Amino acid sequence: MASISKRLLLFVAALLATAKMATSVTRCPDCGGAAVPYPLSTSPTCGDQLYKIRCDAGSLKFDTLNNTYPILSINPLTQRLVIRPSNFIPNTCVTVDIAHGGIKLNSNLPFNVTSGNTILYFNCTDLLLRSPLNCSSTSLCHSYIKGSRGEATKCEMAQLCCTFRTGGSSNSYMIRVRESGCRAYTSFVNLDPSLGVGQWPEPGLELQWLLPREPVCNTEADCDGNAVCGVDPNGTGLRRCVCNSGFVWDPVAGICSQSERFLLD
Ligand SMILES: *[C@@H]1O[C@H](CO)[C@@H](O)[C@H](O)[C@H]1NC(C)=O
Ligand SMILES: *[C@@H]1O[C@H](CO)[C@@H](O)[C@H](O)[C@H]1NC(C)=O
Ligand SMILES: *[C@@H]1O[C@H](CO)[C@@H](O)[C@H](O)[C@H]1NC(C)=O
Ligand SMILES: *[C@@H]1O[C@H](CO)[C@@H](O)[C@H](O)[C@H]1NC(C)=O
Ligand SMILES: *[C@@H]1O[C@H](CO)[C@@H](O)[C@H](O)[C@H]1NC(C)=O
Repeated sequence: MASISKRLLLFVAALLATAKMATSVTRCPDCGGAAVPYPLSTSPTCGDQLYKIRCDAGSLKFDTLNNTYPILSINPLTQRLVIRPSNFIPNTCVTVDIAHGGIKLNSNLPFNVTSGNTILYFNCTDLLLRSPLNCSSTSLCHSYIKGSRGEATKCEMAQLCCTFRTGGSSNSYMIRVRESGCRAYTSFVNLDPSLGVGQWPEPGLELQWLLPREPVCNTEADCDGNAVCGVDPNGTGLRRCVCNSGFVWDPVAGICSQSERFLLD
C-alpha cells in the first residue's frame, strides 16, 4: 500500500515536473532546422545573454573576438559545440583568418577550447622548433599534407608543419596564426591518429561552455513560477531567479526542477 502511494506520488510529481517545462526560461527557436539549446542565445529575448551565438540566414555562427565561424554541431548534454576552422586562401598555405590572428575567443565569456582537438599547423617559421609542438619530420601534419587531396597540398612547399593536441598547459582560448609563427592550420575533433587520412573526420574545432547560472531578472515576471527574483547570493550585485525551496536550478534544461530529495521524501 505504502509502495503504491509512493509510486503514485512519484508519477504525479513527474507529471508536474513535465508541466513546469512549458513555463521554463525561454529556449531560442530553431535556426534553419537546427535546435538552439539553452543557454545558447540567438536573440535578446531567449537563452542566456552570456552565451550569444548567431542565426544568420538559417545557419548558426559563432563569433570570436574578431571573426565569425560556422557552427557544425551542438551537443547540449556535454555543453560542447564544433565550429569549422578557417578556409585556406586559394592556392596558398595560408588560412584566411591570419588577418585576425587565428581563432581568439573572448576569455571573459564562458566558452573555451576543449582538450579533444588535434591542431595541425602549417607554413611555420623556425621559431616553432623551440615550441612544445611536434614539428618533427614524422609529425602527423605531414600525413595530412600528403593524404588530403584538398587545400593543404600547397603546404608541401611550405617550410615547416607542426602538430599538437589541445589541453594541458596550452592556452584554451586561442588558435594562433601569424606571420612570425604558423600561417595556416586545421583541426580535428577526437582524432584517432592510427587511422589513414582518408578516414579522418571533417575538420572541426570543439568548444565547450560552462554551465549557466540562474537567469538574471529585473522583476518577478522574468522568472518562472518556481523561482523568485532575488539578490544573487554570489554578491555580483545582480538579481537572479532563485529557485523556490523544493526546486533546484537545472542548468542543462534551464529550469528550476523539482529536487530529487523532495520527490523521494
Ligand atoms: C607561407 O607563408 C608565407 C608568409 O605568409 C607566404 O608568403 C607563402 O606563400 C606561404 N607558403 C605557401 C606555400 O603558400
Ligand atoms: C581584435 O579585436 C580587438 C578588440 O575587439 C582589437 O583591439 C584588435 O585590434 C583586433 N585584432 C585584429 C587582428 O583584428
Ligand atoms: C575550459 O573551462 C572549464 C571550466 O573552467 C575547465 O574545466 C576546462 O578544463 C577548460 N578547458 C580547457 C581545455 O582548458
Ligand atoms: C611526433 O609525432 C610522431 C607521430 O605521431 C611521433 O611518432 C613522434 O614520436 C613525435 N615526436 C615527438 C618529439 O613528440
Ligand atoms: C556562485 O554561487 C554558486 C552557488 O550558489 C556556486 O556554485 C558558483 O560557483 C558561484 N559562482 C561564482 C562565479 O562565484
